Amino acid sequence: MKHSESPIGIFDSGIGGLTVANAVLNTLPNESLIYFGDTAHLPYGDKSPDTIKRYCSVITSFLLGCNVKLIIIACNSASSVAFEYVQEIAKQHDVQVINVIDPVVDYIHLNKINNVGVIGTRATIGSNIFPNKILHLHPNTRVESLATPLLAPMIESGFIKGDISKAIIEAYLAEPVLDDINALVLACTHYPLIKKEIAEFYLDAHREVEILATNEIVAQYVKKVLESSDLINKSSKVQHQFFVSDYTDSFEETTKLFYKEEVFLKHSRIFEEEA
Ligand code: DGL
Repeated sequence: MKHSESPIGIFDSGIGGLTVANAVLNTLPNESLIYFGDTAHLPYGDKSPDTIKRYCSVITSFLLGCNVKLIIIACNSASSVAFEYVQEIAKQHDVQVINVIDPVVDYIHLNKINNVGVIGTRATIGSNIFPNKILHLHPNTRVESLATPLLAPMIESGFIKGDISKAIIEAYLAEPVLDDINALVLACTHYPLIKKEIAEFYLDAHREVEILATNEIVAQYVKKVLESSDLINKSSKVQHQFFVSDYTDSFEETTKLFYKEEVFLKHSRIFEEEA
C-alpha cells in the first residue's frame, strides 16, 4: 500500500542520478529515498533500447518490492527508451513514474523558449525524444541536438575542473549546430556537475544561453506530483538507502562528487538472482 511515509524510488545507470537525488532532497527534505545505481551495466548511453529496458525492468521490480510510493527514472538514457515500459510495470502496483524528460519539455513550453540545444548521451540523442516532445507541444520551436558521449565518463572520472574537461566541453559546445541556441538542455544527469564550466564557456563567448539543469526542474515536478496525490511525507522520520549492482571503492569515492553527504553504498545482487 502506498503511504506518504513510504520512500521514493530513484534509479540511474550509475551515480549521475545522485544529482537528481540531491535536488529532490533540497526541495523535499522530509522524503526518504531508495536509490539504485546500476553500476554493473553503465554506461546506458551506449546500450540498445532493448538492453536498457531489460535492466530497468529488474530495477523497477526491486524498487516496487521496497514499497516505494513513486519512481523517478533519474537517467535520460533510460527515460528516453524505457519510460512507458517502466510505467507499465509500476502501474500494476498503482505507483506513478516520473522521467527526467517531460518536466523539462513542460518547462521549455511554459517559458516559451524557442531556440533550444540539447546535449546528452548517444541513446538519448539517438532516440530524438527531446525534439519529438518539444515540437509536439510547440511546432515552431527550433531544436538542435548533439551527442556528447565523452562528458559522462569524463565527469565520472573526476575531470570537472581543469584543462582536460575545459577542452572537451569547449570542443562540443563550439559545434556549429549549437551556434544560435538561446537555451541548452543538459540532458544527462551527470551534467549538472559541469553546469558552471558550461556557463563559463558562454560567458567567455559573450553569448546569453540559459542552461537548463534538469535535476532542479525535475525536483519541482516531483513536489507537484506528490502534493497533488497527497503523498508528501509529513513525518520527519527520514531514512535513505543507496544500492549499486556492482561495488568498488572508487564508486563510493566518486559519490562525493555527486552527493552532498557521504554515501554508504550497499551492493545489491538483484541481477545475479535474475541470471
Ligand atoms: N546518467 C545517464 C543519463 O542521464 C548517463 C550515463 C550513462 O550513459 O549511463 O543519460
